[in-house]
Amino acid sequence: MFNVHDFEKKRKGTFGKPLYYFETLGSTNSFAEDLAREGASEGTLVLANEQTEGKGRKANSWYSPPDCNLYFSLVLRPDPSRLTYVPFLAGLAVVHAVKNHGLEGDLKWPNDVLINEKKVCGILVQTVSDQTPLAYAILGCGINVNSSFPPELQETATSIAMENGRSVAREPILADFLLEFERRYERIDRMPWSVLCRELESTSSYLRGCEVEVRESGGTVRGITEGLDGFGGLILRTEDGSRVFYAGEIQSCRKK
Ligand code: BTN
Repeated sequence: MFNVHDFEKKRKGTFGKPLYYFETLGSTNSFAEDLAREGASEGTLVLANEQTEGKGRKANSWYSPPDCNLYFSLVLRPDPSRLTYVPFLAGLAVVHAVKNHGLEGDLKWPNDVLINEKKVCGILVQTVSDQTPLAYAILGCGINVNSSFPPELQETATSIAMENGRSVAREPILADFLLEFERRYERIDRMPWSVLCRELESTSSYLRGCEVEVRESGGTVRGITEGLDGFGGLILRTEDGSRVFYAGEIQSCRKK
C-alpha cells in the first residue's frame, strides 16, 4: 500500500495538494479530468495504487498492477502557448527523480523516459482544446517503480527496482518528481524554447545524431535525428530531405 502520510511528510512544494488517493481506480487521468472540469485548482493530484483502465498514448492501455508503481495525474492550467512544454518538463522531472536512485534516465521523443533503452515511465497529457483560453491540461504519469512485467512487455519495459536490484519506496520518488516539476513549471512562461531544447537534447540520446525509424500511419521512415523544431516536432534527415514529425513512435537503429 502507498503510504499517504509518509508522502505528505516528504512533499515540499504546493503541487500535490489537494491529493485524491485511491486504492483502485479506472484511470487517474479520467478522474482528474472530471475534477478539472468542476474547477479543481492547479496542482491537484490524483494518485492510484492500481488502475483498472490505465490509459496510454494512442489508445494503448497502461500496465497498472497494484502495490508497486506510481500512477498519478496532475491538474494544470498552463498558458496555451506553453502547452508543448508540459510533457517535456515532466520527462525532465522524472529523469531527475530517478537520478536520486543512481539511475540515468534517457528521454525518448515524444515523451517516454527510458533506462538502458527500456521504458521506465510513460507520460500522457490530455487537454481540452475547445475553449480559449485553454481550460486545463491533465498531466498523467506512470512510473514503473517495483514491478516486473508480463512476457509481452519484458523486452521493452523496465522498473527502477529492476535496474538497481532492490525494491524502492514510491513516496519519495513522487515527492521528488512533484517538487522538480513544480520548480520547472513555475518558470514556464519565461523559459525560452531554445533553452529547454538544449536541456532536452543533453538529456536524450535520441534527439540528435541518432539513426532512427519513425513509425507513422503510412509506414516507416528512416533517418538521422536533428533535434526539435519550435513546436516540439522531431526533425529527421532522411534520404529525401528533411522532415518534421509531430506524432509517431521512434525506434533506435542501435537496437537492431
Ligand atoms: C504512454 O503510453 O506512454 C503514456 C502512459 C501514461 C500512463 C499514466 S498512468 C497515470 C495516468 N493515468 C492514466 O490512465 N494514464 C496515465
